[in-house]
Amino acid sequence: MVKEQRGHFMWSDAQRPLLIIDGITSGAKVTLNKMAEKSAASAGLTDEQIHELVQKSHQAKQKAYAPYSNFHVGAALHTEDGTIFTGCNVENAAYPVSCCAERTAIFKAVSEGYKSFRAIAIAGDVESEFLAPCGSCRQVMREFGTNWTVYLTKPDLSYRAMTVGELLPCSFGPEDLDKPKVKGQ
Ligand code: THU
Repeated sequence: MVKEQRGHFMWSDAQRPLLIIDGITSGAKVTLNKMAEKSAASAGLTDEQIHELVQKSHQAKQKAYAPYSNFHVGAALHTEDGTIFTGCNVENAAYPVSCCAERTAIFKAVSEGYKSFRAIAIAGDVESEFLAPCGSCRQVMREFGTNWTVYLTKPDLSYRAMTVGELLPCSFGPEDLDKPKVKGQ
């Protein structure tokens, strides 16, 4: 039997919950899927650091400027050295000019000289599903590598961990620009 615990569910490519670290009562059998372990744990954060990041993403959501959609989103980005940048969505009367929470956080970090990221947590108000990043934000994340972690969260602070590469497979990135081209190009 497994106790209920927040924030320790991890998922595989096959979308199955695979690993529960803390909520185990004696005698429980836990199957470790090595791929999910590698993928989800690659941020190298402790449970406490993940919890803090998830919490900060939900705090950042409080700052959302979303008068048009009323869809409030927050993000918290953990850089390589442990600095955390937060962001919220910032909408505009000219709708397409709006910026998502994830991009706000990433652009804040990059503008302060940070380009190496371990993880980003994304927070919304949707109760029953983990909030997934939009395609544009996935591409912006991918600019800074495919092997870092995205925590898709719910308001109860539970999360699902995926890598950027899992969220955006077969992607285009900076390395592609340097690949050999046909003659004359
Ligand atoms: N939004 C985000 O900030 N992040 C996402 O991952 C999904 C969507 C914002 C954009 C817009 O302000 C509002 O949510 C509704 O789409």
